[in-house]
Amino acid sequence: MPGPEPQDCEGAGPGSGVRVLVTGATGLLGRSLCRQLRSDGWIVIATGFSRASPRMHQCDLTSEEQVQRLVRTHKPEVVVHCAAERRPDVVERASDSALNLNVHATATLAKEAATCGAFLVYISTDYVFDGRNPPYGEDDSPNPLNLYGRSKREGEREVQRHCPDCVILRVPILFGEVQRVEESAVTSLWSSVLDQSQTWSLDHVQQRFPTDVRDVSRVISNICSRRQQDPSLCGVFHFSGKEQMTKYEMSKSIAEAFELPSNHIVPVTDPAPSSGPASRPLNSRLNCSRLELIGLSVEPRPFRVAILDSLWPFTPDKKWRQTVFH
Ligand SMILES: NC(=O)c1ccc[n+]([C@@H]2O[C@H](COP(=O)([O-])OP(=O)(O)OC[C@H]3O[C@@H](n4cnc5c(N)ncnc54)[C@H](OP(=O)(O)O)[C@@H]3O)[C@@H](O)[C@H]2O)c1
Repeated sequence: MPGPEPQDCEGAGPGSGVRVLVTGATGLLGRSLCRQLRSDGWIVIATGFSRASPRMHQCDLTSEEQVQRLVRTHKPEVVVHCAAERRPDVVERASDSALNLNVHATATLAKEAATCGAFLVYISTDYVFDGRNPPYGEDDSPNPLNLYGRSKREGEREVQRHCPDCVILRVPILFGEVQRVEESAVTSLWSSVLDQSQTWSLDHVQQRFPTDVRDVSRVISNICSRRQQDPSLCGVFHFSGKEQMTKYEMSKSIAEAFELPSNHIVPVTDPAPSSGPASRPLNSRLNCSRLELIGLSVEPRPFRVAILDSLWPFTPDKKWRQTVFH
């Protein structure tokens, strides 16, 4: 199950003594990132909203006053902005509140980061691209197909406007240590693997690159460390898992990893099924060479290993734990 909750902590390592404010620290990426940054020696100021524990800092990022108070009180040297409404269908349905968080709150945070001289890292998405002409380099023109992608693109513009020396890190579909399997679009496939009482027809058209938040967290920590040595580090970067998979292939791979039957999982190739109101790119594969060229990337763990690690707590007898950790 997920590890201990994020809290302020200082240790030895590349980030020794430097204060990093993490938004979205209660979320999938933020939890992993706080653990990574703490173990790398950063002083982590972890903030959440509805799930913030008493040991964390609660802040509604859509309140300008609360954002100002948070940043001016803690005076971070680095801000990593993970918080967002990242479910495309929810953004489409609740557009005002989602845009308020993804765009307006991002602009407020960026203004405050600029005022206190903090280095800002903004987490963005491959959904800024339309998926028609992959792979996408960092300088390729975004053309989002849905409101979520447009809101994240607007967020990118806001951080670049207020903090021109920021880093924007675009990542694709994420998974990792989830609190509930539904928390990630990858781990939510677990129910299709477990439930052999029916046939599961899964999309075999849209190409995805499932990416472990633990790998993303190491990349973010690398970026923050390098920036301490090289203040000129800024710009747009891409990071992605390397294995291209449809949801059908992910589900089959999960079944194989856990040595479970998968004959009840069948591919759907025509037409691509729509799971909700938001359109999704066919293949928004990211070219990640810029990060690799400057030595800040990490080798992603193989999907089968990482997914075992993520899902073993949800097996009935947790029998995979030994296999995964030894
Ligand atoms: N998940 C993916 O597949 C994926 C793919 C590509 C890019 N990304 C990007 O990666 C980043 C992290 O995504 P994630 O999957 O970790 O998201 P997540 O698990 O859905 O977490 C969202 C976070 O936003 C916080 N939040 C929501 N409303 C807030 C508010 N009004 N004020 C302050 N905080 C608020 C939540 O806090 P509470 O829960 O405490 O309310 C939570 O910590 C996002 O920027 C997302 O766009 C994600």
